[in-house]
Amino acid sequence: MVKICCIGAGYVGGPTMAVIALKCPSVEVVVVDISVSRITAWNSDQLPIYEPGLDDVVEQCRGRNLFFSTDVEKHVAEADMVFVSVNTPTKTRGLGAGKAADLTYWESAARMIADVSKSDKIVVEKSTVPVKTAEAIEKILTHNSKGIKFQILSNPEFLAEGTAIEDLFTPDRVLIGGRETPDGQKAVQALKDIYSQWVPEDRILTTNLWSAELSKLAANAFLAQRISSVNAMSALCESTGADVTQVSYAVGKDTRIGPKFLNASVGFGGSCFQKDILNLVYICECNGLPEVAEYWRQVIKINDYQKSRFVNRIVSSMFNTVANKKIGILGFAFKKDTGDTRETPAIDVCKCLLGDKARLSIYDPQVTEDQIQRDLTLSKFYWDHPEHLQSLSPGTVKQVSIVWDAYSAVKDAHGLCILTEWDEFKTLDFQKIYDNMQKPAFVFDGRNIVNVEKLREIGFIVYSIGRPVDAWLKDMPAVA
Ligand code: NAD
Ligand code: UGA
Repeated sequence: MVKICCIGAGYVGGPTMAVIALKCPSVEVVVVDISVSRITAWNSDQLPIYEPGLDDVVEQCRGRNLFFSTDVEKHVAEADMVFVSVNTPTKTRGLGAGKAADLTYWESAARMIADVSKSDKIVVEKSTVPVKTAEAIEKILTHNSKGIKFQILSNPEFLAEGTAIEDLFTPDRVLIGGRETPDGQKAVQALKDIYSQWVPEDRILTTNLWSAELSKLAANAFLAQRISSVNAMSALCESTGADVTQVSYAVGKDTRIGPKFLNASVGFGGSCFQKDILNLVYICECNGLPEVAEYWRQVIKINDYQKSRFVNRIVSSMFNTVANKKIGILGFAFKKDTGDTRETPAIDVCKCLLGDKARLSIYDPQVTEDQIQRDLTLSKFYWDHPEHLQSLSPGTVKQVSIVWDAYSAVKDAHGLCILTEWDEFKTLDFQKIYDNMQKPAFVFDGRNIVNVEKLREIGFIVYSIGRPVDAWLKDMPAVA
């Protein structure tokens, strides 16, 4: 029986290993983590992350060939193949702060693998890392190897949160990078043998190590760039009377461009797009390519612009002051079908509104009160450095209340903002909502999910990103 150990039981390690265990009954998979609370949750009925279909997969294999443990060293020592899926956040201090990837967790995992190993191993980079990380890891492992042979593979993960299980069941591609030596190719084949138990051969791509590492950063940069492109267009649509949904539909009909990932929004969030682009920018700078670095930096600048444009629309529409006004916030997660709030645009929008002294009533079906208060009070540094979190209790923002249904969030409110595209927001009874709001009643749709005409008929003043603006809003210019 092949033994796999995965270091890091997070959004990637947990679901990825659960699917490997499900599809490969002859492989034993142990997911290990230094976080006791995470492992306890993986072993309970309340999994630490919300992901459609995940409960079912875990239920089928946990205790059979899927295990979760905090005994990191024991399981690493016993494994034939070790996946490393630890967090690789943006550095917050030191050289490259604000851009470079912080590889502290990665390096400590690599040193631990070298320390505890007593047999040859294949070490698989699952985390997203800068190009050439495999080389650094290889050095750490071989210099501490005591004669043991290690082969390093890069196997970046392309799943998206909210659709992780679907993405893992039927991936567009699986990418495996390895050394172009006989031993390197043997290791590539061993990993290929795992995936080929459910992924068609033509979807398993093999490359050299550096191409695999860079392809992951490139894929995220291309995806984020599409969103910034359509968001940049949304600003022009508002100024010209064009409708961004019609423009992106027309553009996406070109088969060379395609229809996906062209929804204008309040901005992209999630733990990776910004982090990975910053990392790419840093790598370009380090390689003497400032023009290329600047090109990719623009993707983030437009994203920041889009978030502040949204807040400016809210404040300027509401007579240039939101002080003491109740604003209902529908959705806090960075996208639907996840409880993840890392880099969610909701944090920036809410913080700006709080800065202008608004009172916020927030509802999200999957994000806990504790998480929202943490996000609004603690610096985002702590989310990526959970070892510091235990010693900190979040503050409580007095102007914020967290409620458990959309109607309570917007009752007696002056305005409502949709910040996550949860399906349940598409079918709300907006007449009922209007009747219970202060007048004039404002809707700010950061996800383009409401029927603008219908809401205007009810009496709302509606701002929907990139759509023709209300006469009311035309008189209140959006400041950049
Ligand atoms: P995460 O923060 O959810 O999980 C990482 C886990 O690693 C944490 O639970 C942490 O406690 C654990 N850890 C850190 N150091 C450890 C050590 N030395 N030993 C044992 N456990 C350790 O992160 P994530 O979202 O799963 O992302 C992991 C990597 O995958 C990142 O590089 C990310 O860029 C990449 N990625 C993420 C996604 C996503 O959708 N979240 C998708 C593709 C790739
Ligand atoms: C993204 C990529 O899609 C994955 O392939 C990649 O593996 C992952 O990052 C990663 O490396 O972490 P994820 O961030 O989970 O996945 O979710 P996406 O569906 O890509 O959405 C990211 C953000 O963009 C969300 O805030 C979403 O609302 C926003 N978005 C997406 C738009 O604003 N418009 C769109 O058309 C699509």
